[in-house]
Amino acid sequence: MAKKTILAAPSLLSADFARLAEEVQTINESGADWIHVDVMDGHFVPNLTFGPKMVSDIRRETKLPLDCHLMVANPQDYIESFAAAGTNYFTFHIEAVMHASRLIQKIRTAGMKPGVCIVPSTPAHVLDEIISEVDLILILLVNPGFGGQKMIPSCLEKLVSLASLRKEKGSHFLLSVDGGVTGDNASLAVEKGADVIVAGSAFFTAQDRAAVVKKIKGL
Ligand code: DX5
Ligand code: ZN
Repeated sequence: MAKKTILAAPSLLSADFARLAEEVQTINESGADWIHVDVMDGHFVPNLTFGPKMVSDIRRETKLPLDCHLMVANPQDYIESFAAAGTNYFTFHIEAVMHASRLIQKIRTAGMKPGVCIVPSTPAHVLDEIISEVDLILILLVNPGFGGQKMIPSCLEKLVSLASLRKEKGSHFLLSVDGGVTGDNASLAVEKGADVIVAGSAFFTAQDRAAVVKKIKGL
């Protein structure tokens, strides 16, 4: 069987925001597949980052898909603005919404691919009823809000159950992991079924960023 292609998604959270265009350029040149954009509102998580204007400014600097991870309360309020900014994947937290199906439909209608994310304390089975509706499931391996934390390895088991449910239901979503992933431990997530690897600090602290991407992708 041909080896599965693993997608690498550097997270801009660990970039130097004062030199963002240059940082995006290093992602463009690194062989990475997507750019992961962490949006934090100071309510859902105890930190703040940026909103749709930053996304549209980043959009001008890259052709890569923008994988926006909305760590926000009321994600429904940001669908139109993030779509207009050029977001490809709009991933919300299941913990932040009451009517996930309705939100997923709105994201798709706005022209984006819907993704759903769970924090470490949320079990994977809460997603059972919506897995056939989303294009991406993001498994957080750390408590969200900050880059540079250590992976909680037990969260990787969620990949196994979701990958088997995907097979059983014939669903097509990609499985992504986020938090504490490095070139050295990415293979643990890939072995459990991950398709997309998000890495922030591991990418931006590396001397050779392209080498980190290669390692993550198993090349
Ligand atoms: C955590 C964010 C992550 C973060 C990962 O709240 O969702 O995307 O950037 O950073 P690292 O890879 O440093 O753990
Ligand atoms: Zn993220």
